[in-house]
Amino acid sequence: MADTTGLTKIEVLEQKNAEALLGGGQARIDVQHSKGKLTARERIDLFLDPGSFEEIGKFVMHRSKDFGLDKEYYLGDGVVTGYGTVNGRLVYLFSQDFTVFGGSLSETHAEKIVKIMDLAMKNGAPVIGLNDSGGARIQEGVVSLGGYADIFYKNTLASGVVPQISAVMGPCAGGAVYSPAITDFILMVENTSYMFVTGPNVVKTVTHENVTSEELGGASTHSTKSGVTHFSCANEVECLNTIKQLISYIPQNCEDTTPLLPYEPVEDENRTVLNTIVPENPNQPYDIREVIDGIIDEGSFLEIHQNFGENIVVGFARLAGRSIGIVGNQPAVLAGVLDINASTKAARFVRFCDCFNIPLLVLEDVPGFLPGTDQEWRGIITNGAKLLYAFCEATVPRITVITRKAYGGAYDVMNSKHIGADLNFAWPTAEIAVMGANGAAEIIFKREIVAAEDPEAKLAEKIDEYQRKFATPYRAAHRGFIDEVIMPEQTRAKLIKAFKMLENKVDQLPRKKHGNIPL
Ligand code: HXC
Repeated sequence: MADTTGLTKIEVLEQKNAEALLGGGQARIDVQHSKGKLTARERIDLFLDPGSFEEIGKFVMHRSKDFGLDKEYYLGDGVVTGYGTVNGRLVYLFSQDFTVFGGSLSETHAEKIVKIMDLAMKNGAPVIGLNDSGGARIQEGVVSLGGYADIFYKNTLASGVVPQISAVMGPCAGGAVYSPAITDFILMVENTSYMFVTGPNVVKTVTHENVTSEELGGASTHSTKSGVTHFSCANEVECLNTIKQLISYIPQNCEDTTPLLPYEPVEDENRTVLNTIVPENPNQPYDIREVIDGIIDEGSFLEIHQNFGENIVVGFARLAGRSIGIVGNQPAVLAGVLDINASTKAARFVRFCDCFNIPLLVLEDVPGFLPGTDQEWRGIITNGAKLLYAFCEATVPRITVITRKAYGGAYDVMNSKHIGADLNFAWPTAEIAVMGANGAAEIIFKREIVAAEDPEAKLAEKIDEYQRKFATPYRAAHRGFIDEVIMPEQTRAKLIKAFKMLENKVDQLPRKKHGNIPL
């Protein structure tokens, strides 16, 4: 039956559906494409399993009347929300539509996002946010700000309940940055996305600095200088694929177990390549990624924060098919020393793994904390304590392999047994001591050295004595601080067995409201 427009009820629905799919219209879609960006719906199509997307709130419209909004509205109100699957696993997602009021966030736009976050929390599945927005809907004023606050609040409540991942695929400025910031991982697209609290114009007025959007808050800046983003992606397709890869390692929610990929056990899991990675000379660098590759299932490492705090390497991998999180000191950068960036980077990763039941493997080769006024004045004490605290409170299965140096406070911090690690292994090349032999000999044998006829020879003799006594794993093994000294080639096999043994670990922290991590 036709209505006054001459359309049947079925046709009215078809028309509305077609209208919603067009967002802000073809002209604006063309502009979006001309900037090298995909539309909100194209991104969803690329991201989800084909045909799996179910939209929620397709016909939602804003309720504003001011500044001409009573005459301008678009079905969906600038954000496409719903659920679907990635490799068969349920996810909820929102995708902001820049063709509608620049993807700006209105009261109703925010309500749609909050609605899918509620569903995600109740049903235990990740929330993926594809952000591309000019910020608060300027015509709406405070109700838009309220909408942002509703999202921030929900992000915080959802934190640690379901994984939350934010892709920034366009502008993300002002207070809007704080939703991605609260989520677990941020990905940015090079040259088409930026994040900042205040843009270049305000920066120029306040600090007289001339800076472009890209320099101030582009993907490269945030992946190398600030560490705000975990991944810098060459383009949108790479960004969406990286999210898919990322979630393949992560359980659906905090009650779920880690994903298990099919794995065919082999009779001999020994990897002889591991025997020759650590150089004879303890001061010579090597790349901890070679050790990681030698241990894990082939090609399974996904590095997080690759270009930030490079003296520590963190990421996900698979061991006999099961996801693990890896934290490894990187002797190839600053000798693998712990500094502020390395500590905060690793602390956040450890906490993520612990939230979502992902077992932790720590590969340790650390000469200590980085000395100097820069680090002290910027708070290496508080920031180093974050990593210590994160390990101390982690209840997931935790194993450490000391490949070489484990010096000073860093020995304690890097998942030692004293702070709750389940098993600690050491390679024969391990050196576990309060400090390096040179420094130690200079301090404790100072008088003897000064009094000696040949102080240099005396120093060398004392260094050698200290080294033989302490620069080995055996003192720690005698005490039981090291459970086993293993041949490097055995590491993979030992870890597969050990993580299997720890599979049903139950450990609980004392009852409390929440701890007070040194922020
Ligand atoms: C309403 C907006 C909008 C906004 C953009 N548009 N931002 N409408 N509210 N915040 C509209 C434009 O009017 C335009 O409409 C369309 O979106 C595309 O915008 P353009 O400017 O043509 O696009 P472009 O040149 O690519 O520039 C994008 C931009 C710019 C850099 C994002 O639009 C811009 O500076 N917008 C304002 C950003 C801003 O100040 N937002 C508020 C920040 S404060 P037509 O009809 O022409 O297509 C904030 C507080 C959050 O967000 C607080 C949370 C606590």
